[in-house]
Amino acid sequence: MADEIYLTGITTTGTPHIGNYVGAIRPSIAASRDVSKKNFYFLADFHALAKNEDPDKISQSTLEIAAAWLALGMDTENSVLYRQSDIPEIPELTWILTSMTAKGLMNRAHSYKAAVQANLENGSDNDPDKGITMALYSYPILMAADILMFRATKVPVGRDQKQHVEMARDIAQRFNHHFGEVLVLPEPVIDDHTATLAGLDGRKMSKSYNNTIPLFAPEKKLRKLIMKIKTNSLEPGEPKDTADSTLFDIYKAFATPEETAAVEQQYADGVAWGTMKQTLFEYINDHIGPAREEYERLLASPADVEAELQKGAARAREVAVPYIKQIRHAIGIRKLG
Ligand code: TRP
Repeated sequence: MADEIYLTGITTTGTPHIGNYVGAIRPSIAASRDVSKKNFYFLADFHALAKNEDPDKISQSTLEIAAAWLALGMDTENSVLYRQSDIPEIPELTWILTSMTAKGLMNRAHSYKAAVQANLENGSDNDPDKGITMALYSYPILMAADILMFRATKVPVGRDQKQHVEMARDIAQRFNHHFGEVLVLPEPVIDDHTATLAGLDGRKMSKSYNNTIPLFAPEKKLRKLIMKIKTNSLEPGEPKDTADSTLFDIYKAFATPEETAAVEQQYADGVAWGTMKQTLFEYINDHIGPAREEYERLLASPADVEAELQKGAARAREVAVPYIKQIRHAIGIRKLG
C-alpha cells in the first residue's frame, strides 16, 4: 500500500556490531532508499536511560550509531533520521498514553516479567521488583508514543520487540475507543529471513554477552577479533561442516550466493580454520572499508552528525507538532476560547 509508514528505533546503548548490521542496519539502509516507502528512523536515547547507562556512554553511542547509519549511505532526504529526545512531543504523548494504559497491560510485558523472574530466582523474594525502574516498567508506553506519534503503520523489529508493538496497537485502540479515530494502529513487521549472527564464543552476537565484532573496528582489531572466533578442532585437510560454523554464517551474511557456494566447497575440501579466518577478515574488511573511512571522518566531526539530526528533527516535528495539537484537543487539553 502506498500509504504505509515505516518506523523503527534503535536504543543508544553500545557500539554497532556486525550482528546489528546484518540484522537491522543493512535492511534499514536499503529501505531508506526505496522511494515507494515513507520511513522514519530514530535513535532511542530516552529508552537508553532505562538501561542505566552512564551519560558519556549514551552520547557516544548516539554519535556512533548515527555516524554508522550515515556512513553506510542512509538516504536522509527520502527518509527521516532523528533523535528521540529532540522531539518533545514524544514524552508529551507518552504521558497522555500513560494516563489511559491499564497497569495490567504493563504487568504482562515480557521484559518486565523476565526482570521479576530473575529476582525470584536469585533470592530477592521479599522484593520481586528489586532494581526495576518505572522506566523499565513503562518502557512499552514510551515505545507506543514513538510509534503512534508518526502514524506508523509498519514497525520492523526483532522478535523480542513484537509484543511491544502489539501493546502500542492495544493502547491506540483503547484511545480511539474513548476519543475517536485519532491514532493509527501499527503492525509489527518481523523478517524471519534476516540472519541472526553468532558471536566470538558461538552464542548469539550481543553486547550483553560481550562477544561482538564492532562493525567499524579498525583493521587490526577486526583481524584480531576474527582470529578469535570459536571453531572446532578439525585439522587442515579434514572436511568440515558449514552447519554450526560461526565463520561460515558470518561469511554467508556478507557474501554473494556464488561466493558462498565457493566457500562451501572449500569446507568440503577441508580448508584450514586459519585460512578461513583470513578469508573472512579480508572479505569484511573490503566490504566495509570505504564506509569505515566515512565513519571515522564523522566521528571526528560530530557537528556534521548533529546537523543531520537537527535536520531530521525539524522534519519529524512537521508531523509531530500539528498532530499533538489534534491529540490534545481530542482528550480535552484545550485553549479556553
Ligand atoms: N525497544 C526497541 C529495541 O530495544 C527500540 C525502540 C524504541 C523501537 N522505540 C521503538 C523500535 C519504536 C521500534 C519502534 O530494539
